[in-house]
Amino acid sequence: MKLFWQRLLSVPDTDIQSPPVFFSCLPVLETQDLILRRPRMKDAADIYAYASDEKVARYVLWEPHRSVSETRSCLRGLIRRARAGYPSSWVITLRESGRVIGTIGFIWYSAENSSAEIGYSLSADHWNRGYATQALRAVSAEAFRSLPINRLEAQHDVRNPASGRVMQKSGFRKEGILRSRVFNKGEYVDVALYSLLRSDLPPTHATVKQQD
Ligand SMILES: CC(C)(COP(=O)(O)OP(=O)(O)OC[C@H]1O[C@@H](n2cnc3c(N)ncnc32)[C@H](O)[C@@H]1OP(=O)(O)O)[C@@H](O)C(=O)NCCC(=O)NCCS
Repeated sequence: MKLFWQRLLSVPDTDIQSPPVFFSCLPVLETQDLILRRPRMKDAADIYAYASDEKVARYVLWEPHRSVSETRSCLRGLIRRARAGYPSSWVITLRESGRVIGTIGFIWYSAENSSAEIGYSLSADHWNRGYATQALRAVSAEAFRSLPINRLEAQHDVRNPASGRVMQKSGFRKEGILRSRVFNKGEYVDVALYSLLRSDLPPTHATVKQQD
């Protein structure tokens, strides 16, 4: 017998995965300019190159990396969490060179509420070329295709409007400002909350199967 969410999502049994299985073997996603894939330890040097940049870390919840070994240890944690079936991330690579220029992934997943949050960051050398938007669209589509979710969230520091623009261009709707929501880098910051619901998707992505 099909599970409730398999009926709801109207996809073959084989397409929808249990979240732990999905998070532990994220599929490769391709966009016009990017290939998103699971992280590997040998990505450490590329990741350190941008994760050590104060500009990149300014509005995210992590501090700039101080050494490649710090990046290696973050990467090891990321890979272990994914293997254990916890919410995981893709590395964003450039299709033309294979170089890792960022990460995008799930911050948390709630089975109770059928929802998840996505976060992302990109090397400053590659900003404003539409790459984060390509990545967020691909990950959102895959999340609604493969996970039993109803709602995706994303949020950004209000002083980082480029991130809000990425959310808007990916179809997310702004829900409001959460005042002093986060204590980050020594201060309370206001955060803009965005969401994308399954019912916001075009019909081909959001088909609800009629009950038999
Ligand atoms: C936020 C971030 C992911 C955007 O990535 P990106 O690849 O440059 O995003 P895109 O090119 O897809 O889109 C950026 C949009 O923001 C706009 N933008 C850039 N700077 C802006 C600013 N200061 N104010 C308003 N809009 C801005 C761009 O013009 C573009 O919109 P457009 O296509 O309508 O012109 C990237 O800047 C980044 O990684 N920052 C550091 C980490 C981070 O802040 N992550 C987000 C945490 S919530």
